[in-house]
Amino acid sequence: MSQTRLATVTAPNDLESYWLPFTPNRSFKRAPRLIVRAKDMHYYTADNRALLDGTAGLWCTNAGHNRDPIVTAIKRAAEQLDYSPAFQFAHPPAFELAGRVAALAPGDLNRVFFCNSGSEAVDTALKIALAYHNVRGEGSRTRLIGRERGYHGVGFGGISVGGIVNNRKFFGSLLAGVDHLPATYSREHQAFTKGEPQWGAHFADELERLVALHDASTIAAVIVEPMAGSTGVLPPPQGYLQRLRAICDRHGILLIFDEVITGFGRLGYAFAAERYDVLPDLITFAKGVTSGAAPMGGVIARDGIYEAFMRGPEHVIELFHGYTYSAHPLACAAGLATLDLYRDEKLFARAKALEPRFAEAAMTLKGVPNVLDIRTVGLAVGLDLASRPGAPGLRAYQVMERAFQEEGVMVRAAGESIALSPPLIVTEAQIDELFDKVGRAIRAVG
Ligand SMILES: Cc1ncc(COP(=O)(O)O)c(C=O)c1O
Repeated sequence: MSQTRLATVTAPNDLESYWLPFTPNRSFKRAPRLIVRAKDMHYYTADNRALLDGTAGLWCTNAGHNRDPIVTAIKRAAEQLDYSPAFQFAHPPAFELAGRVAALAPGDLNRVFFCNSGSEAVDTALKIALAYHNVRGEGSRTRLIGRERGYHGVGFGGISVGGIVNNRKFFGSLLAGVDHLPATYSREHQAFTKGEPQWGAHFADELERLVALHDASTIAAVIVEPMAGSTGVLPPPQGYLQRLRAICDRHGILLIFDEVITGFGRLGYAFAAERYDVLPDLITFAKGVTSGAAPMGGVIARDGIYEAFMRGPEHVIELFHGYTYSAHPLACAAGLATLDLYRDEKLFARAKALEPRFAEAAMTLKGVPNVLDIRTVGLAVGLDLASRPGAPGLRAYQVMERAFQEEGVMVRAAGESIALSPPLIVTEAQIDELFDKVGRAIRAVG
């Protein structure tokens, strides 16, 4: 990039037009945190300070930043095919990427529907679940079950099944016919656990209660994150996901794993479904599929679900759903290059091998004032901080700011938690650096 161009990008003189998402705009605009470039494990600010990326962007740059093969693939794709219609036409890399994603998914999760984000993936999965029952003559199955503290993006489907209060309470009546399982977290029984807590599998039995309340004939699907990420990293209790699967099977309910965060290596496997040896009916993915380099999401469906739709006259559309940019050529190119990198650098296995080291480093923060809990799983950690009286979320926000301004590290503040999830290329020395810096930031804000 030329110096002139950099200058215009790095020195905006008007911060007012841009309404930032999920950001306190006024405090941001008083002290903007501007990122202008990135490479591998680091971001760089407008004044050329390096920041260790402790969050893989927003849980997405799993292969690290600005990796040459991905950059080159996007450039080549842009030169060859900018766009072709996603409906009624297709381009070869879309099929190639679908095949590659299906090959990474367990069991007969072989059919891939593309969209552009995690939120779209969730809404797509919910719609596929509803339509699946409909085309099979079980149209009474319209109820969707989510979970308290769940995050499934920001579409109306996603916030309806989601369980994060602030993401729901401003937006009206949401989808009708939704119920929620309880969250699986208890500080009393699980605090400072490395990996999946032993206590809590019984929370899955609440699904039986909902079945008794609503009757199975009205329930289409249950959607959960195998590990709830955005709410502060809640690993599933041991045996919980297996129990959910068994109850769904008993009652003909589809099980959807929202793997937007857990997909593509975060937990040391291509998908969390593999780590937990539980086969869901649908998996949503996004983020890591392109290592954040181009917007893309999707849903992977088991063969039987796809086949249930393939029964009508051949000239009739089977699923009335899709996006202009489904399987966009640039995103497909980014996705293929990303999957090559994951394979060639064995990044999922690397995450698995680093997990114990990462968990140990995280637990060194136990005992730091105001740290109430630390949860670790794969290359993810959630640190709960004590609330400041009358100002929920303020301490975590201050830690994030302090980490950015003084420590040169990017962390994620989510409510009262700090979440860390570095790119899977992180080194052991960088893991130590990350937790040293986060510890200092927590101590400094007091
Ligand atoms: C589990 C889960 N589902 C859905 C989403 C929404 O993804 P997006 O922001 O790409 O719409 C997220 C985002 O963090 C997520 O963590």
